Amino acid sequence: MTDVDLLRQESLNAIAACISSAALEEQRVALLGKKGKITEALKTLGGVDAKTRKTLGAALNEIKNDITIAIEAKKAALFSQELNARLASEKIDVTLPAQPIQQGRIHPVSQVIEEITAIFAELGFSVADGPDIEDDDHNFTALNIPESHPARQMHDTFYLQGNGDGKTLLRTHTSPVQIRTMRAGKPPFRILAPGATYRCDSDITHTPMFHQVEGFVIDKNIHMGHLKGCIVEFLKTFFELDNVPVRFRPSFFPFTEPSAEVDIGCKRSRDELKIGEGSDWLEIMGCGMVHPSVLKNCGIDPNEWQGFAFGMGVERLAMLKYGIPDLRTFFESDARWLKHYGFDPLHIPSLVGGL
Ligand code: PHE
Repeated sequence: MTDVDLLRQESLNAIAACISSAALEEQRVALLGKKGKITEALKTLGGVDAKTRKTLGAALNEIKNDITIAIEAKKAALFSQELNARLASEKIDVTLPAQPIQQGRIHPVSQVIEEITAIFAELGFSVADGPDIEDDDHNFTALNIPESHPARQMHDTFYLQGNGDGKTLLRTHTSPVQIRTMRAGKPPFRILAPGATYRCDSDITHTPMFHQVEGFVIDKNIHMGHLKGCIVEFLKTFFELDNVPVRFRPSFFPFTEPSAEVDIGCKRSRDELKIGEGSDWLEIMGCGMVHPSVLKNCGIDPNEWQGFAFGMGVERLAMLKYGIPDLRTFFESDARWLKHYGFDPLHIPSLVGGL
């Protein structure tokens, strides 16, 4: 084998032996770079006679050409090989189940609001909200509770400094959302309004801030039967019981007529409360037919439209459903409590997926 053939063979072997793009680049420089073997060999042509220069020059140029082609081919092969290796190492199996989330739980108040919303959404209700800081008109007057009305005292209202008129307050219930919704739109309505409410009251069963879910329906020919059916259906789904004893007990609210309180049948023993059986009753919400004066206050003709409304306490429902014994613990921000009573963020309540 001539020197030229040997140079050619050695160069091609070296290229073939490269196992990475980096090694190939090194090899390219070693062969074709400024001080590379082939470049050096070409430089010697100046010192040989014309005849040799012609044949040797042609042979060296051919080698250079072959090497360039071999390098390009090897480069392409290594590139796809390296890409495939990288893709394989970075592969994510999106069909694997999600990693259980170790930290962070959904608070029972949020969970129960989601559950209630999922149930009423199925019954055609949509969610509305209103501000926590309300005025006297939305919280009381428009709801048929005039200034001198004794019902105002029952509400233990937190009044704010506001503009000094004593008319700004923290809403004592979610019922002002009824007024806001009816004044902003046109009937029919089928609304659910969850949110925080405030009363100046603090003992084992009361916290100054708590949550309510308000619901109301305004349409034509709505009667108490619709209210009853709606509430019973809700309670059955919420407590996941086929049969819940429910009692509608006559009551009074200035903004509904007639008014009722809803009790759910339960059994109280020493340290347990069981929903759906036994001979005890537990009050869980207030409700009634929307008072004609409330409709009038919102520019709705009570001869044409009627409806019902209800309001329930979220913490109480959460305590009953999930066996949480003490209301005050809801707002103590104790991470151990939340870890125990909280919910998996990936479990979003729905009627198909489960509440
Ligand atoms: N707003 C009432 C309360 O907080 C509950 C209620 C709502 C009663 C709607 C009747 C109708 O006690």
